Amino acid sequence: MRLVRLVDQDRPAIRFVLEGQDCSARAGDTLLTAILAGEGSFLRCSEFGDGPRAGFCLMGACQDCRVVVEGLGPVRACATECAPGMVVRRA
Ligand code: FES
Repeated sequence: MRLVRLVDQDRPAIRFVLEGQDCSARAGDTLLTAILAGEGSFLRCSEFGDGPRAGFCLMGACQDCRVVVEGLGPVRACATECAPGMVVRRA
């Protein structure tokens, strides 16, 4: 878990799939929040070899957080709301 949820813990729970694993999020979470608030999660591995990534700008400007959503293709996790049933894989 790289993010700890301190507020909004009463928002409804939703389910999504990350790399074939059933995961939970809160309604209104971005994919970045949903993924990083999960146990042991990271967004993707760096193609430059410096380990797992957790995003950089967190405001939709750098693409460091890109993931692939079934039916949408590559998206910025920090700027994409997690939806129930979303199927996500690391880019
Ligand atoms: S972290 Fe930079 S675009 Fe998402």
